[in-house]
Amino acid sequence: MKPMKVMTISDFKYFFDKKSNSFFDSLKMSHILEASLKYSFFSGGKRLRPWIIYNIGRYYNIDEEKLLKIGFATEIVHTASLIHDDLPAIDNSDYRRGSESNHKKFGEWRAILTGDLGFILPFKIFAEFDNDESKYLSEFFSETILSLIDGETLDVSFEKNIINPTQSDIENMYIKKTSALFEFSFACSPLLLNKKEEFEYLKKAGKNFGVAFQIYDDLKDVYGKFEDVGKDLNNDENKFTFLKILSIDEAKTYANNLFNETISILSNLNLTNFIEELQKIKSLIERK
Ligand code: IPE
Ligand code: IPE
Ligand code: MG
Ligand code: MG
Ligand code: MG
Repeated sequence: MKPMKVMTISDFKYFFDKKSNSFFDSLKMSHILEASLKYSFFSGGKRLRPWIIYNIGRYYNIDEEKLLKIGFATEIVHTASLIHDDLPAIDNSDYRRGSESNHKKFGEWRAILTGDLGFILPFKIFAEFDNDESKYLSEFFSETILSLIDGETLDVSFEKNIINPTQSDIENMYIKKTSALFEFSFACSPLLLNKKEEFEYLKKAGKNFGVAFQIYDDLKDVYGKFEDVGKDLNNDENKFTFLKILSIDEAKTYANNLFNETISILSNLNLTNFIEELQKIKSLIERK
């Protein structure tokens, strides 16, 4: 079998953003908060999660339109989680993707409600899928969001010294807050096809990838440049990240090992071009 072609993430971003505009139109939201949701949604994210969903799904020959819709739903939740994450009561961040964060631009009340909207909209999108697909997606997605919220709760509980975490508690918090959406992104396609074994090992790939991704993110908070990262830096001073426990080199090695484990899991499938592209994306996520 010939390995499938893979779009670079920058080409994909252009294509995905255009498609997302038409998905927003077809949702016919006419909601007061539509402008603030679109402000954050179109403020320039990397679109990494939809890119993963699209490429793994194409490997499984799943319909392109369907994959883009699942990617759209996922990116909406990702956006909502960031709007809430930036709120004064959580991370108190004024900048996101190089622009003012949602609450800075629209006020706290609108940011809270826009986040609420973004957590629910995906279920409206999944409700339009066929019965079984809708059921599988909604089940997996609700577990994903519950995990993300659990992870965000642990993150703040550690910061407020409600819980005093060990390294493995911090890793567990990373798995919940960050890996969850990557587990969904890597594994939703085999789930739709009821390929249980592949579902499990792609979920594992997402879990490893998410922890590596969060460590790179924590490193950027300390060592990144605002022009690249686009969000408040040195904002994690009171957070319990791996950098409170490991040296910068140890943290990088830990993340690189998990990244390599992700690649080795993916190598079990005929995903050569996807793996090559993901390896290029690694330097992007270490910087931006
Ligand atoms: C940021 O995610 C939040 C974390 C899980 C660390 P991304 O780095 O994917 O954010 P965007 O979408 O590209 O802005
Ligand atoms: C990840 O954590 C955020 C979510 C999972 C919502 P961070 O708080 O580190 O993300 P950034 O750095 O604000 O993007
Ligand atoms: Mg946070
Ligand atoms: Mg944050
Ligand atoms: Mg961060």
